[in-house]
Amino acid sequence: MVDIAEDGRTWLLRGPNSSYALHLTEADELLHLHWGPAVALADAEALAVRPLPAYRGFESPLDGHEEYPVEGGPRFVRPALSVRTEERRGTEWAFVDHAVEDGELRLRFRDAGLVITLHYRMRGDVVERWVSLVNEGDTQVELLRADAATWTLPDREDWRLSHLHGRWAAESQLTSGPLTYGEKVIGSRRGHTGHQYLPWVALDTDATEERGEVYGCALGWSGSWRIAVAQLPDARVQITGGAGYDDSGLLMLEPGESYTSPVFAGLWSDGGFGGASRAWHAYQRAYVIPDADRDRPVLFNSWEATFFDIAEDQQAALARRAAEIGVELFVVDDGWFGARTSDRAGLGDWTPNPDRFPRGLAPLADQVHALGMQFGIWVEPEMVNPDSELYRAHPDWVQYQPGRKRTELRNQLVLNLAREDVQEYLWEQLDTLLSSAPIDYVKWDFNRAFTDAGWPGETYPQRLWVDHVHALYALLDRLRAAHPGVAFESCSGGGGRIDLGILSRTDQVWTSDNTDPLDRLAIQHGFSQIHPARIMAAWVTDSPNTQLNDRASSLRFRFVSSMAGVLGVGGDLAEWSEEELTEARHWVDLYKEIRPVVQHGEQYRLRPPTGGLSAVQYLRGDETVVLAWLQAQRYGEPVPALRLRGLDPSASYECRETGEVHCGAVLSHHGLHTALHGDLDATVIRLRRI
Ligand code: DGJ
Repeated sequence: MVDIAEDGRTWLLRGPNSSYALHLTEADELLHLHWGPAVALADAEALAVRPLPAYRGFESPLDGHEEYPVEGGPRFVRPALSVRTEERRGTEWAFVDHAVEDGELRLRFRDAGLVITLHYRMRGDVVERWVSLVNEGDTQVELLRADAATWTLPDREDWRLSHLHGRWAAESQLTSGPLTYGEKVIGSRRGHTGHQYLPWVALDTDATEERGEVYGCALGWSGSWRIAVAQLPDARVQITGGAGYDDSGLLMLEPGESYTSPVFAGLWSDGGFGGASRAWHAYQRAYVIPDADRDRPVLFNSWEATFFDIAEDQQAALARRAAEIGVELFVVDDGWFGARTSDRAGLGDWTPNPDRFPRGLAPLADQVHALGMQFGIWVEPEMVNPDSELYRAHPDWVQYQPGRKRTELRNQLVLNLAREDVQEYLWEQLDTLLSSAPIDYVKWDFNRAFTDAGWPGETYPQRLWVDHVHALYALLDRLRAAHPGVAFESCSGGGGRIDLGILSRTDQVWTSDNTDPLDRLAIQHGFSQIHPARIMAAWVTDSPNTQLNDRASSLRFRFVSSMAGVLGVGGDLAEWSEEELTEARHWVDLYKEIRPVVQHGEQYRLRPPTGGLSAVQYLRGDETVVLAWLQAQRYGEPVPALRLRGLDPSASYECRETGEVHCGAVLSHHGLHTALHGDLDATVIRLRRI
């Protein structure tokens, strides 16, 4: 809902619990008025007449108050928009008009030939913001930087910043600390979203898990990006973010050309960090993730079981075992195509390896289907090994700088997806592949960052960064449209490409290559701050975890850890004993029972994974599921009861595990005792309102 003042200069966007307001002065300065609890248009208008601070000393009254600070004029904050033409640099805009269409507010400004439109759309309590720029003039305009939005927080003391940092196999680690004067910048200059940060920040002053105001911002972009959180000299806080890390040039807009930024979404919540997460989850399920109402199947993935050593019969044998334990989707990972017997060769040649799959993929896919499972495969379309037919035929199709080394990471180079011939090649290869066998699922990987992002012969090679992402999105969109039954997983060496942009065209993500069930609890805790369990793939692999840390853990602990998301199995089932397979079957059956609650329910983080007892609760209608893990028990220290949340205090809840009936108030106030004890124990508790 958008309310507009009579003079057409104050706008109020309204969500179910919050509102957002902005105002245009007579001098065409676009000022931020309000982002927080619901207010009326009259309140916004009253805020609009409050004077800006006067010029004092060296400070600009505009700084910290503008919706979209451009470069130029009396502004010293980090500009959201920085452009240059042959004649000048910066922007001096004049308001053109506003429009509201399908709930989207558009404010149009013009600076000579450049038309700048700010877009606002409220979805639930999430405000989506983005900018579009059109060069209607007859000379080039270089976009040095065009952020999607700048967010302004209300005046408060002692802001605290939370975000997710990490690295390969240790993504999504939650960290928070006081925001101080200056800027905190997170992002990626790697060409993909990156393992190092998820594009999300949260700011609060005194929120707890379930109480208090939390502001959050999340970017929907799968290339290089930047979010800068600034505490300005007067202590006001602004957050600006968009595509690209540096300000050294995004695109050259030729006359008639345009650029649309990714969406930078913002959420205000007064439900603490838990409430904010639930609102983000609801938003993604309702507006971002395709077919979010559909359950994601339990999958088996061959990677940790067979790595590159793949053969049709061996995969068929694994498939039989996977079917026995109740797996619903069997995915053959890397190694099925071209000359791909190691990471040294084959990327780029998307036809089945003739020694391994002499009859193509269809016979294996048919066997998998006959076992009652869906069939999936792994691809990494944006890459090429120098040892491949593709590279030998088209060495100029990769990103490279003439006269410089082509940096091989994991023995591979990045294809220049900005090239139309590369786009067409990939479309043909993948469309043919998906038509060649009954394939239901594609795990789409991306295993190295950009290092030599050059494009010889192109006058503005810089655009490769942005165009790569647009080409990736277009390819995914085209494949999804042509093969509507196929689901896609976003993977980038684990969790290197997780953001709202890729999520709008993939069905789930590979959270991390770290499949150690204990390490995973911390990763999952961070991940849940912004993204729902419905997309968070988690596999049960072998113990000890020889991939990573040699930690040994029970099948119980591994399963309960993975059941917090989209359950998968990634262990070498050929080596699992009958006893283990029987136990696995039990857990898979249990997961299928609780799946609707886990994948579609509201999530409450009862206790973070900080060493002792941790737990997550999911609530959907009358059903509640609690997953709890005891990392280590100290002698003499009792395991605390778990105080549940979101329950009706006057209702009764039956525990499916014990048959006991508890009152909602007791479960919330006194908590539920688990039978957890010792080290690395875990449990699943189901409660139903009766
Ligand atoms: C990285 C992924 O994260 C793994 O799961 C696996 O698919 C390998 N790539 C295959 O090369």
